[in-house]
Amino acid sequence: MTAYRVMVLAGDGVGPEIVAAAQRVLAAAGERFGFALAYEQGLLGGVAIDELGVPMEDGLAARCRACDAVLLGAVGGPKWDTTEPGKPRPEQGLLGMRKELELFANLRPVRSFAALAANSTIKPDVIAGVDIMVVRELTGGLYFGKRERLADSAYDTMLYTDAECDRLLEYAFGLAAGRRGLLHSVDKANVLESSRLWRAAALRAAAGWPAVELRHMLVDNCAMQLIREPRQFDVIATENLFGDILSDEAAMLTGSIGMLPSASVGAGGVSLYEPIHGSAPDIAGRGVVNPCATILSAAMMLDLSCDQTAAARAVEAAVETALTGGARTADIAAAGEPVLTTDEMTDRVIAALQG
Ligand code: IPM
Ligand code: MG
Repeated sequence: MTAYRVMVLAGDGVGPEIVAAAQRVLAAAGERFGFALAYEQGLLGGVAIDELGVPMEDGLAARCRACDAVLLGAVGGPKWDTTEPGKPRPEQGLLGMRKELELFANLRPVRSFAALAANSTIKPDVIAGVDIMVVRELTGGLYFGKRERLADSAYDTMLYTDAECDRLLEYAFGLAAGRRGLLHSVDKANVLESSRLWRAAALRAAAGWPAVELRHMLVDNCAMQLIREPRQFDVIATENLFGDILSDEAAMLTGSIGMLPSASVGAGGVSLYEPIHGSAPDIAGRGVVNPCATILSAAMMLDLSCDQTAAARAVEAAVETALTGGARTADIAAAGEPVLTTDEMTDRVIAALQG
């Protein structure tokens, strides 16, 4: 039987709970589709700071590279929050991992679930049929530029190279070509020089993809358009921080940030899968977190890293079936709807998967 090696980085807060849920679903998928998974564990985030004093275990990236995929829960929490510039932060582990594995493109598929249409804070007729792929640049920009804290000031740098923009946009155009053939390149080219560099790269990439329509959109307008008329978007390609912010906003089109998965892919090596939501320290350890974003991230892993596309689609369909059958964790329950625990929600997905 085919066996895949997966590095599990459970992380902090709800991380261990959602990863455990995803592993149960993966086991059920393996049983049905005839594959096995072998797991390794690594320390990343606050847990690594607590145990080792650093946000990422030594040699972790190399161990990840030796695996077929990396499944990550979440990192961070108030315990490690600090405004001291020199103190280690859990997020440094995640950013370090993205950088070391060269995961330059972060794919965040935003699909509205019919069963949750009434549960979003946005009107059902606005979100019906939404299917957007946010492609976020993940290893450049403000997250990695030079930064400094001075006596009474501080600065961060949004630096991009042609090569960084080119590879992200090329990847995004490729995705758009396989979808509806529309790419919104989102920037702030009316103000930022780095955005004008980005826009030039978008025009260069477009020349190689004549079947894909390129539209430029300013990021502030995009934030508004996502809520006004989200169906106008197919693929959104944007730089790191813009993508971070827009994808949280876009998550609400699905009803809850607890529904949105992501895949971080790079220059051909190992990819990393994680929900886009954070460690949710306020509900951690109570068994109530919505496991769907991580289960759907695991489905992306089956598809993109394990060549188990049928299993991936079956897991996605199982989540949909569970939702249609009324399964709800607290974050997606409308007033009066019965609320399931993380384990119960996972059971419902597994039951649907087993048919
Ligand atoms: C995300 C998160 C991270 C980011 C944090 C935890 C550093 O918000 O994956 O979107 O900003 O990239
Ligand atoms: Mg974010």
